[in-house]
Amino acid sequence: MERRPIHPQGPTFSRIIAGAWRWHNVSQETVERLALVALEEGITSFDHADIYGDHGNEIVFGKTLIKNPSLRNKIELITKCDIRFPSAQRPATRIKHYDTSKAHLVWSVENSLKNFHTDRLDLLLIHRPDPLLDPHEVGEAFEQLKKEGKVLHFGVSNFTTGQFRMLQKHLPFPLVTNQIEISLSRIEPLFNGDLDLMLEMGISPMAWSPLAGGQLDVDERTMFSLAGKYHASYTQMAIAWLLRHPSKIFPVIGTTQPERIREIAKSINIQLERQDWFEMLRWVMGKDLP
Ligand SMILES: NC(=O)c1ccc[n+]([C@@H]2O[C@H](COP(=O)([O-])OP(=O)(O)OC[C@H]3O[C@@H](n4cnc5c(N)ncnc54)[C@H](OP(=O)(O)O)[C@@H]3O)[C@@H](O)[C@H]2O)c1
Repeated sequence: MERRPIHPQGPTFSRIIAGAWRWHNVSQETVERLALVALEEGITSFDHADIYGDHGNEIVFGKTLIKNPSLRNKIELITKCDIRFPSAQRPATRIKHYDTSKAHLVWSVENSLKNFHTDRLDLLLIHRPDPLLDPHEVGEAFEQLKKEGKVLHFGVSNFTTGQFRMLQKHLPFPLVTNQIEISLSRIEPLFNGDLDLMLEMGISPMAWSPLAGGQLDVDERTMFSLAGKYHASYTQMAIAWLLRHPSKIFPVIGTTQPERIREIAKSINIQLERQDWFEMLRWVMGKDLP
């Protein structure tokens, strides 16, 4: 599996990242197996969030790290924060909201470190843009977390280009990525400036739900005929389509099936020809390009 820096100033991640959002649907043993199979396939980067599995998925992954003590130094841990919602785990939260206050960011990171039984996060992402985000306060929180060695790199998720630039302006170090939804079923980032900003800044985006959560809305018959040319599966073609973009997208895959991790990892070997890439775009656009 290719590894590359997601930003010129690091960090280096595996080109395909394993996402843990859906991993509460499986047993502790399966989570361990997913992690180990991913690693066998060269997928070393794991995407979490404080809220996944009603605040439980980090804890389950942390148990895997305890059981496999050599694992932590072989992987990169990504997590997110700022979404808060009512839950038995968070009785003080009355209403779903976003919270980028310094107190919450610092508390959330410290809680994630406890959950993972680790002393550092490789990357922290602000999960969703907070309309009350005060860039000075976020900057203070990030600086403190970096100085304490608790977070090595920072980024954002679901930010517009304007929100990205605004926050970056107030930070003494770079935001290393924007994790956004991109797939054959969500092609807007190709045209709305999201990927252009990444190219302008020399940053790679991460693509969440790269297979549209298993609901890719494309013409399967045509997809299969092109897949035959590459001796690839439908799924591999969809991931290869993302990998072909010059911003060097890092797809964050969400399967809960170890064998599917193995299948998807092979997408890295597919080099889509330009016209085939456009053929796939044409299917989802449903018409010729202008
Ligand atoms: N930043 C954000 O706001 C945000 C939002 C959503 C997700 N994420 C991140 O992105 C990751 C991926 O999201 P996602 O789970 O929606 O991604 P995905 O890879 O597009 O979808 C995975 C889902 O598709 C199903 N699926 C059906 N056929 C499949 C096939 N042939 N191969 C693989 N999967 C197939 C999987 O089922 P099986 O499990 O049965 O394989 C699973 O339920 C999450 O884990 C999370 O880390 C971030």
